[in-house]
Amino acid sequence: MQSGPQNRGTGQAHRQVASSADALDCDRPAGAVEDVVAVGGLEIRMLRPRNSEELLDEDAFEHEEFLPYWAELWPSSRALARAIAVRALRGRRTLELGCGLGLPSIAAAMAGGRVTASDWSPESVQYTAINARHNGIRLETVICSWARPEPLSERAPWDLVIASDVLYERRNVEQLLDLLPRLVTSGEVWIADPGRPNADSFFERAREQWIVEESRDPEQPVTVHRLRRISA
Ligand SMILES: C[S@@+](CC[C@H](N)C(=O)[O-])C[C@H]1O[C@@H](n2cnc3c(N)ncnc32)[C@H](O)[C@@H]1O
Repeated sequence: MQSGPQNRGTGQAHRQVASSADALDCDRPAGAVEDVVAVGGLEIRMLRPRNSEELLDEDAFEHEEFLPYWAELWPSSRALARAIAVRALRGRRTLELGCGLGLPSIAAAMAGGRVTASDWSPESVQYTAINARHNGIRLETVICSWARPEPLSERAPWDLVIASDVLYERRNVEQLLDLLPRLVTSGEVWIADPGRPNADSFFERAREQWIVEESRDPEQPVTVHRLRRISA
C-alpha cells in the first residue's frame, strides 16, 4: 500500500465503485488478516492489516497528526453495523464518514442502502473497497477530509449519514459540528461512540440544532446516537 501525507486531506474526490462482479477477483493485501463479524444474522468477512502499529508513518504524523486508526475494527463500528442491519434502507443515499475498514458501509449496503464510504486516508478507502468486494457488495468510495468536504457536501442532501468512533479528537468535534448540517436536511445522522471524552461536548452542542436519540448496543459499551434536524 502507498503511504505518505501528500494525498491526505486534499479534499479531492477519488471515487471508486466496488461491484459484486469483482468478488471473485478479490485482491487480498499481503499480510492481511480476516475477522468474521456476525451482523443481523449475516456474517461479514473483514480484512485488515495484521498490525496497525507497523503502519505508523512519521511524515504523515508530522503533517496532520495522522495515526493509522483506520486499520482497526473498533467496537463502535460493530455496534453501528448491528444497528443498521435491522433497518430496511430501501435505496436511501447513505454516506459514511471516517469509514476505516468499511464495516458499517457494508452493513448499510446489505440493508439496501446506496452507499458512499469516505475517509481522508487513501489506505482506509482502499481497504473498504477491498472488503466490499470480499463480501460481494457494491458501494462507492471517496477520499475526503472533513476540513475540505466539498466532494461530499456538493452531493447533499444525504438521506443517512453514519459514522463510528470519530469524536476522539477535539478538532473532529468542531469539524463535524460544522459539516453535518451541510450534509443532511430532512435525513438522519447516526453516530456510534464508546464514550470518548470529547463526545459529551459534541452532543451537548449538537442538541442546539438536532434532536438526539440514543440507544445502547447490547453487546458492547457503545451508544448509537440518532440525530434529526430540529427544523426538519
Ligand atoms: C477511530 S477510527 C474509526 C474507524 C471506523 N469508523 C471504526 O469505527 O472502526 C477514525 C476514522 O476517522 C478517520 N478520520 C479522522 N479524521 C478525519 C478527517 N478529518 N477527515 C476524514 N476522515 C477522518 C480516520 O482515518 C479513521 O478511519
